[in-house]
Amino acid sequence: MSKRDIHESIMWAEKYRPLKIGDIVNQIVAVERLKSLLKSPGNMPHLLFVGPPGTGKTTTALCITRYIMKDYWRDFTLELNASDERGINTIRDRVKTFARYTDRRQDIPFRIIILDEADEMTNDAQTALRRIMETYSKGTRFILIGNYSSRIIEPIQSRCAIFRFIRLGEEDVVNYLAEISKKEGVKFEKDALSSIYKVTTGDLRNAINILESAAALGFVNENNVQKTAGISGKAKVKDVITMALEGKFNDAWILLTELIRVYGMAEKDFLKYANEYLSRQELLNQGNIAEVMAKYDYRIIVGANPEIQLTALLAELGRIGQELDQNIR
Ligand SMILES: Nc1ncnc2c1ncn2[C@@H]1O[C@H](COP(=O)(O)OP(=O)(O)O)[C@@H](O)[C@H]1O
Ligand SMILES: [Mg+2]
Repeated sequence: MSKRDIHESIMWAEKYRPLKIGDIVNQIVAVERLKSLLKSPGNMPHLLFVGPPGTGKTTTALCITRYIMKDYWRDFTLELNASDERGINTIRDRVKTFARYTDRRQDIPFRIIILDEADEMTNDAQTALRRIMETYSKGTRFILIGNYSSRIIEPIQSRCAIFRFIRLGEEDVVNYLAEISKKEGVKFEKDALSSIYKVTTGDLRNAINILESAAALGFVNENNVQKTAGISGKAKVKDVITMALEGKFNDAWILLTELIRVYGMAEKDFLKYANEYLSRQELLNQGNIAEVMAKYDYRIIVGANPEIQLTALLAELGRIGQELDQNIR
């Protein structure tokens, strides 16, 4: 594969990820504060980035490491995902090893650890994390990332400078999508770009993904955007759950398999969306459903075969749906 081929196969959302803080779209408040903070990088505190998905949190964290460590950033940056790692002990081990094996250099003020989805850690794990942060605070800075600051324990919040990222507005998203389309030589209608904004509500990653899929159909127009956005993950998850609750196990299973194998949705994300959807429904046995979801979430986290677990989940939802019917009658 030539270098060009490899480049071509990178998804656009990754290919167009800004490398410099100055190229981050919007987030003016956060970016201006960061710029003044980085005037003396050596004094940078731990940082906490919160806000909705696809608004530039991870991108900004990576821009900062590049800015501070220049060519060495890869060697002195550790990226962890709090919800992928099997618990706080793994995080501690990885931080420890990283701190031990990366020699400090004179021109590098500290190492940086980016911990994504920090708000999904339990309170106990966060308490342990706080101790880890203290232990390594001399040569290490943490950039914690999450959706909600309220889910981060106070002792961590008070040790971090907090930056809030906001959903991008229509003008920003449309302009950015138009720019990418021009660079990729893609034909588009401006109204179709507005439609992409409407279905993605300020999540730029999702918007770029839909643009890329619609472009693959030859032309970014209303029709192709609707076709592509139709398979946008969350909507399909809702369909799978509804079918399962209605006892249409086979249909639910086929759609679920398609989501995972063709659309590439992670099983963990499927559960997350399913849970979001279910918790918004006014079902009679909400507690029962919460228990069932927690059970499968746990099994998948500890390493059970996710496809088998999700299949079992569909069957169980079918039973719950039946009980629900009986209660209503
Ligand atoms: N503010 C932004 N400016 C420019 N690109 C962005 C911005 N937010 C998201 N993106 C695009 O979406 C992708 C995912 O952004 P990311 O920073 O990972 O979002 P998150 O807030 O979920 O961490 C990036 O690779 C980039 O293409
Ligand atoms: Mg991120």
